[in-house]
Amino acid sequence: MPADLKCKIAGVEFANPIMTASGCAGYGEELAQIYPLSNLGALVTKSISLKVRPGHPPPRTVETPGGLLNAIGLANVGIDRFLKEKVPFLEKQKTKVIVNVAGSTIDEYVEVCSRLNDCSCADMIELNISCPNVNEGGIEFGTSPKLTEKTVAAARKVFKRPIIAKLAPNVTSIAEIANAAEQGGADALSIINSVIGTAVDIDSWQPLLTNINGGLTGPAIKPIALAMVSSVYRKCNLPIIGIGGITDYKDVIEYLLYGATAVQVGTALFVDPSAPLKIVKDLKKYLKEKKLKSVTELIGKVRR
Ligand code: FUM
Repeated sequence: MPADLKCKIAGVEFANPIMTASGCAGYGEELAQIYPLSNLGALVTKSISLKVRPGHPPPRTVETPGGLLNAIGLANVGIDRFLKEKVPFLEKQKTKVIVNVAGSTIDEYVEVCSRLNDCSCADMIELNISCPNVNEGGIEFGTSPKLTEKTVAAARKVFKRPIIAKLAPNVTSIAEIANAAEQGGADALSIINSVIGTAVDIDSWQPLLTNINGGLTGPAIKPIALAMVSSVYRKCNLPIIGIGGITDYKDVIEYLLYGATAVQVGTALFVDPSAPLKIVKDLKKYLKEKKLKSVTELIGKVRR
């Protein structure tokens, strides 16, 4: 009998633990032209804010050794166009949908969250309190335990389904922020968003990104993310979705052993949009070889 890949977070059941990371598959339309989204545990949308955001002018991505620096600036269609233009497509997909929500103020988070209540395809929301690339909002909410708790609590008051808080690595103690998110009423955590970085052109002496700083993602940050997942797993009770540098099934297993229940694949999608399909296939093979009945048997099983 094939091993069971199903996993559950806050009562929501996922066909497998492989999700796309916010910002790496837009609203799913392009990926669905390559394979049915039912192959994914969940599609996580690009952040949705109250108003349309054009984001930063290009260049807004730069490749670095083992990684990618981005400063997109939360470019997105805004909640009105999301509900009108993107939701009809998302409603037809046979996968779970997690809507990532961004705001410049707590009131903005609240308004977007409350409007998503009527959107039945939003199985969960992921509160983006960790974007390093905007002057207002984003990481500002996720680097202070008090503001984290306040923002999550405000969203919790209005949104009726489970809430995930997406945490920043650019903090002194991610466990402290995780506990604040739990206090605020979060049901789960996504760990981690990108690591602040920059790059400069040695001929022009100018930064390579118009925003100067960006967020580093990809394999270069995997050890950092794993250590943060491990720390939060030991100090906080919420289920964890691991993010950072996942390119193959071995990365997924590392995250699960350190305590993640599921993972998100981000930067790897730009190299190979089909990476999740291969990961699912190889994960099944690994579980069979290890004689495990369910992928959940790996969660937190690292031998210390
Ligand atoms: O710049 C961006 O849109 C990045 C978003 C994020 O890291 O959350």
